[in-house]
Amino acid sequence: MLVINNGRVIDPATNTDRPRDILIDGDKIAEVAEPGRLATVPGRETFDAAGLIVAPGFIDLHAHLREPGQESSETIETGTRAAARGGFTAVCSMPNTKPVNDNASVTRFVLDRAKATGAVHVWPIGAASVGSQGQAISEIAGMKDAGIVAVSDDGKPIATAKLARQVMDYCRSLDLPVIEHAEDVSLAVGAVMREGVTSTRLGLRGMPAAAEAVCVARDVQLAELTGARLHVAHLSAKASLEQVRSAKSRGLRVTCEVTPHHFTLIDEDVSYDSRFKMNPPLGAREDRAALLEGLADGTVDAIATDHAPHEPALKDVEFDRAPFGILGFETALGLALEQLVHAGRLPLGRMIELFTRGPARILGIERKIAAGQPADLTVFSIDRAWTYRVEDSPSKSRNSPFDGKQFRGGPVATIVAGRVVYRTN
Ligand code: DOR
Ligand code: ZN
Repeated sequence: MLVINNGRVIDPATNTDRPRDILIDGDKIAEVAEPGRLATVPGRETFDAAGLIVAPGFIDLHAHLREPGQESSETIETGTRAAARGGFTAVCSMPNTKPVNDNASVTRFVLDRAKATGAVHVWPIGAASVGSQGQAISEIAGMKDAGIVAVSDDGKPIATAKLARQVMDYCRSLDLPVIEHAEDVSLAVGAVMREGVTSTRLGLRGMPAAAEAVCVARDVQLAELTGARLHVAHLSAKASLEQVRSAKSRGLRVTCEVTPHHFTLIDEDVSYDSRFKMNPPLGAREDRAALLEGLADGTVDAIATDHAPHEPALKDVEFDRAPFGILGFETALGLALEQLVHAGRLPLGRMIELFTRGPARILGIERKIAAGQPADLTVFSIDRAWTYRVEDSPSKSRNSPFDGKQFRGGPVATIVAGRVVYRTN
């Protein structure tokens, strides 16, 4: 048994923001009570959370754990340890592994490895098409039985409108969300960053914002046609956000996520440093402003990291040749506090919603701090100063543009199924 004492419990799912003590028994929350009300039993482990926020466990809808197949960049063990340090209690793992998670045996492998080696829950996402090759639909029903929570060809878009329609039809009947990496590849061929003044100045090939928005437009039409739940991954452009906003106002089941790097950085921050290379690329100043607005007004449903480790041998090369992707777990909360809360753009409760209730709803589950619920909790500070040092990361990769950055507030403890899997000293 573990008691978390004196924390400020903030839970958007129950509209709570007050001091509470939480009793955990096994892997469940046993009781939530006013401070001092829980009977003190000798031998019971206590965690003093005075001055700290206690929130439902953060859920990351979008992560690349690289296992099976690219274990030199990350494993389920190292990736989930980094996730725990970031305050995440559950991460959804993208299927672009080697082999691709496009059938039940790979799904089961991921779940088995997660059970054996994972520090946090791993919820696999299955590929939409065989090998994510965009030709034939994958065995979605079999993967659902094995435990996938969504489908996606992430890394690339679902290749054609015809296939996307078919995938949405299936997923509608199976009640699974379709997560789209929105990109019209014909507009993005050879591009390594966003098209604009900066790409011209640097002499790097850019993709226009429309590369994303054109694909979002296609998918919104198909979501309307099929009635499927469409979730737009790592949305980065103002034009795409406007389409999500309008789809929502028409009552379609369309949601989206934004990454911390897209609401923090812009294309002008890009130099020839491959740690600033990711897909979708960093947008223009007005895109970032639109994302911040969408995070505040409810158009954006979740913050997701797109944690994309690439080992130094792959990433430490010329910008043009480096793979897309950056680390995301450990800096997500610090960046959200800085850009959203300390900057006065969002109330703290709304920021927490974007890490908890928002992603849970997209997955069709409910998570709250209440008796009987899984004991997954994120404890964090909103004011402790700390510095992110990528060399201290449990991740096998080092590709973060935020190495050395100072933060105000961040994760203090991560509790998964009643166990403290991470705690700062
Ligand atoms: O930056 C990215 N990295 N974007 C993607 O779509 C894929 C990901 C990866 O797998 O590295
Ligand atoms: Zn992607």
